[in-house]
Amino acid sequence: MKIINSKSLVEHNTFKININAKLFVTIKSEDELFSLLNQKRLQQKNKFILGGGSNILFTKNMNCLVIHNQIKGIKVDKETDSTITLSIGAGECWDNVVQWTTDRNLYGIENLSLIPGYIGAAPIQNIGAYGVEFQDVFVKLKAINLKSKEIYYFNKLDCQFGYRDSIFKNSLKGKLIITNIKIKLSKKKRFILSYKALQNKIRNLDIKQLNSQDIRQIIINIRNSKLPNPKAIGNAGSFFKNPIVNNKTVKSIQKSHPQLPIFQSKEEIKIPAGWLIEQLKWKGYKEKECGIYHKHSLVLINHGNATGQEIVNLSQRIKEDVLKEFNIKLEEEVLIL
Ligand code: EPU
Repeated sequence: MKIINSKSLVEHNTFKININAKLFVTIKSEDELFSLLNQKRLQQKNKFILGGGSNILFTKNMNCLVIHNQIKGIKVDKETDSTITLSIGAGECWDNVVQWTTDRNLYGIENLSLIPGYIGAAPIQNIGAYGVEFQDVFVKLKAINLKSKEIYYFNKLDCQFGYRDSIFKNSLKGKLIITNIKIKLSKKKRFILSYKALQNKIRNLDIKQLNSQDIRQIIINIRNSKLPNPKAIGNAGSFFKNPIVNNKTVKSIQKSHPQLPIFQSKEEIKIPAGWLIEQLKWKGYKEKECGIYHKHSLVLINHGNATGQEIVNLSQRIKEDVLKEFNIKLEEEVLIL
């Protein structure tokens, strides 16, 4: 475990913003973490936990100790005839975990294929896509308080999961490092096919012949058809959350935009922020080194050497436009630092 001075984080954030961490360290085990937290000279230093850096926009240098979580390992914790519980190091890449499970014909997270980032970040923002949210498979997590070094265990209720939300983004923000996560998957076939594009792709296939690997491949194809690969183009997926609105707002927007798409569940109505932004002609917009992806308006991109602040400035203009036209205040999904 080596503490590095002034390290560029350009390879540690999918937006590819070139800023420096004042101090940077990689930890590969809980023992390494404890020995780090016990170092007297580091005890008063602010600490920031970095996973895959796929939901962050850096706007300035990180004047603190950045701890890169590389605690890995996927183990079977419990198994019954129909389910399996896995215990996973928080530094595992999320998509490697998905592939591990689909290689073994397990069901539960195949719809979440190709989401960038580490599994340690999955509960923080309750990642979700194509009809599945992380909370649907979550069992328990282990976390360590960065100051007191106390160990905590959180069950599903403790996490206070919401849409792209949890207690770790709110009252516990920045206080803990998640080291291990347990998820429960099904050994029996169980498809979640509520997402229209997924239904369309399997319409002509014999569903009895499909397995979780097939669904994973279809999801990968859907994502590749509309979302940029962060290895090729700097981005952090959806920049904003889809706004949750009431019936009155829907009716008022429909007066001028009758084709407004809505996603209605028992609890709430969401409208796709990407659609709102596209109506305002931002799709494919480019300005200096940043812009909006030409196939999806919810994805802000770094064409090369954009600064975090340039991307924030662009996002502010989009927000103002949406507020002016639709009277909706968009909220960032990405963490701006
Ligand atoms: N749409 C447009 N124009 C656009 C983009 C989207 O009209 O430029 C419309 C689409 O036609 C569609 C609707 O908006 O009717 C929804 O689009 P899409 O299915 O692509 O999903 P989304 O609501 O934009 C959410 C998640 C994604 C997740 C997808 C699929 C949020 C903030 N984003 O996006 O998650 O992959 O659903 O389930 O909830 C992420 O969090 O980074 C992310 C990519």
